[in-house]
Amino acid sequence: MKERFMNTNHIYVIFGASGDLTKRKLIPALYSLYVQKLLPEKFIILGVARTKINVDEFRELMLESIKKYGDITDLSEAGDFVKNLFYETIQYDELNSYNILKEKLNELRKLKDINGNTIFYLATPPNLYDVIPLNLAKVGLNKEDDGWKRLIIEKPFGYDLQSALQLKELLLRDWEEEQIYRIDHYLGKETVQNLLVTRFSNGIFEPLWNRNYIHHIEITSAENIGVENRGGYYDNIGALRDMVQNHLLQIVGLIAMEPPSSLEPLSIRNEILKVFQSLRPIKIDEVSKIAIRGQYTESIINNEKVKGYREEKNINPDSKTETYVAIKFFIDNWRWGGVPFYIRTGKRLPTRVTEVVIHFKPTPHFLFSRNNLQEACNKLILRIQPDEGMLLEIGIKIPGQGFNVQNIDLDFKYSELSHQRIPEAYERLLYDTIKGDNTLFARTEEVIATWKFLTPILEAWQNNNEIPLYGYPAGTWGPKEADKLIEDGKVSWRFPCRNLTNSNLYCEL
Ligand code: BG6
Repeated sequence: MKERFMNTNHIYVIFGASGDLTKRKLIPALYSLYVQKLLPEKFIILGVARTKINVDEFRELMLESIKKYGDITDLSEAGDFVKNLFYETIQYDELNSYNILKEKLNELRKLKDINGNTIFYLATPPNLYDVIPLNLAKVGLNKEDDGWKRLIIEKPFGYDLQSALQLKELLLRDWEEEQIYRIDHYLGKETVQNLLVTRFSNGIFEPLWNRNYIHHIEITSAENIGVENRGGYYDNIGALRDMVQNHLLQIVGLIAMEPPSSLEPLSIRNEILKVFQSLRPIKIDEVSKIAIRGQYTESIINNEKVKGYREEKNINPDSKTETYVAIKFFIDNWRWGGVPFYIRTGKRLPTRVTEVVIHFKPTPHFLFSRNNLQEACNKLILRIQPDEGMLLEIGIKIPGQGFNVQNIDLDFKYSELSHQRIPEAYERLLYDTIKGDNTLFARTEEVIATWKFLTPILEAWQNNNEIPLYGYPAGTWGPKEADKLIEDGKVSWRFPCRNLTNSNLYCEL
């Protein structure tokens, strides 16, 4: 690594500093890094936003958010931490604001004797993802002659293939690919990273991890909350763009990739990209069969009336935006040829849970009687959240006469590592942006490949009114039609609970 990249002293500029993401995730994560002594000796966090507040008010607000949203209970260092916070008002589309910002950065650098190392985090609405980098470049803040410059962009990167390609071109005019970090916070989750470790640190899985032994793979990411106060954003986006294009397909990448030759970022990201490039293209006339969309309707949950999506704040009362999506697809390569992948995600489902289920093929000959195929397939469940852990379902002999078989769970839960705290996803990702490690960030080609894959679905849903948008009562597992996606009538989705091990029992909402 070049010497100048090893110096991590820097200024962390957060655009959108008065927004939700800054207060809920970014500042608490940076405080957590501070407490763990993971921030460099010299650093400054400069909040930038339209809101007119002074530095003391900003520090006060951030102190509040650390108390409210942080998971570090020791607040004894919070007072010292916020002394490193500064604030600057900006008009995002006025070039002069960026000249003022440049002067401010120079002043702060002198104050703390920090070189030009700077991170620009865009925690803003996506319509500013082109404006801000363009203006930064116009005033020379993309140049690395006085220290490194990094640009962190939240999802969604583009609205569809066309706009993602445009954004890509625009950014790459002034910024190097290596300078751009596209955040997908799922990649910052410990349990998502553990997918790599489970697969590649255990010799026992690799021989089984292919079409010869795997029947199908299922990935569920359920949320019990509705759109909350994000209606303005969500109604224009929907579940496919919000969750599938990024978080769920990144999980698919980690589950399906070939072993990388090393842990070098490029090596891992190349393998993930190959998975996306091998996704079997979806034909527009098969969309209604392989993709199910749904929208939650009014319902009663725990004796309380819950609004339907169309009655939520800032939602068009005739909205056709999907809050649920389930898709079946294939990866056309040697490892996965013929293995169906099923993914589903939705809001206002019965519980919050994200997990991957590997359904292994049954034994070639049933020596012992099994009620159905589902029961005869071993399952490996990799639980991303909550109750993080993993579980292997295997059959054992029921003690007593005969050879009766019962499935039992071999499970591990992260909570059993009681001395280990599971850090928030943003903590790891922000730390990586400071170290300059882009392993856990999506590169341009990945984003483009995933948009390309989803384009037929987006277009069919947009243009073909005959493709139904199924209603599902809030608090249920989505439209029944999604069950039919799994054509093999002998198997079905797993219906998980908050608790990893008692998923077959009554599911608490
Ligand atoms: C975000 C989506 O990226 O991920 C939200 O925009 C969603 O709609 C959230 O609620 C889910 O993240 P997590 O970490 O709570 O699973």
